[in-house]
Amino acid sequence: MPTLRVDGVRVTVPAGATVLAAARAAGAEIPTLCHHEGLEPWGGCRLCLVEISKPGWTGEGKIVTSCNYPAEDGLVVRTSGERVVATRRVVVDLLLARCPGTPLVQRLAREHGIEEASYEVNPEPTDCVLCGLCTRACDRMGVSAIASVSRGASRAIAPPFNQPPPDCIGCLACAEVCPTGHIAWSEADGRRTIWGRVFEMQRCEGCGRPHLTAAQAGWARARGAAEQDLRLCDACKREQLARTLRAVSRGETVAAQAAAS
Ligand code: SF4
Ligand code: FES
Repeated sequence: MPTLRVDGVRVTVPAGATVLAAARAAGAEIPTLCHHEGLEPWGGCRLCLVEISKPGWTGEGKIVTSCNYPAEDGLVVRTSGERVVATRRVVVDLLLARCPGTPLVQRLAREHGIEEASYEVNPEPTDCVLCGLCTRACDRMGVSAIASVSRGASRAIAPPFNQPPPDCIGCLACAEVCPTGHIAWSEADGRRTIWGRVFEMQRCEGCGRPHLTAAQAGWARARGAAEQDLRLCDACKREQLARTLRAVSRGETVAAQAAAS
């Protein structure tokens, strides 16, 4: 298990941990945008920069992205040195020029002492910070219905040819992981709409509420999901579990409790 020093604090982390994990374990606060515990590190937003060095290194330390840099034994990490903060400010400044009206970006700008962007402000402001969480979540599902398109200020996340994506299953993974709420979706009359596609919803057999799209249920079945896992919404599953546990604690058999419910 590697032992590092983060801002003077000695910390030991499991093998394979990142510098970001080590820094957080040491109590340091590092801003991140494209990092998500459930996804592979990407290193795209450059907000989590830190300075690293090792005893014996000469010259200045190296500026690296902490979310995908391995926590190596003996590493000395500075999370808020002058170079780190100055580089991070440039990243936030550029973000503010791209997304001037986005509350998350405005907060980051305030935290970095930036009142207004020093770069030319995007003539078509967007809430998309290009963190890539949505596309990576979609890829992780094995669906890959959306992707990053275009370049420069007009770079965006979109389905192929900006048409309703044929591969999308309407699972909302992209919308739920988006840190700015940029991905619009809606639900009404047993239908969910996202990326211009309309999905029929499947209703929970417990409470009758629509809880997943029929396309999503089909996708899960094709990957071996048991039918009983698709019948109930999360709230009803929790309720069923609570009922079962109550019955067990009263000494009833699970089968008797299931028959009574
Ligand atoms: S749509 Fe949201 S999750 Fe996707 S890249 Fe933009 S900000 Fe990130
Ligand atoms: S959080 Fe590390 S580069 Fe985005």
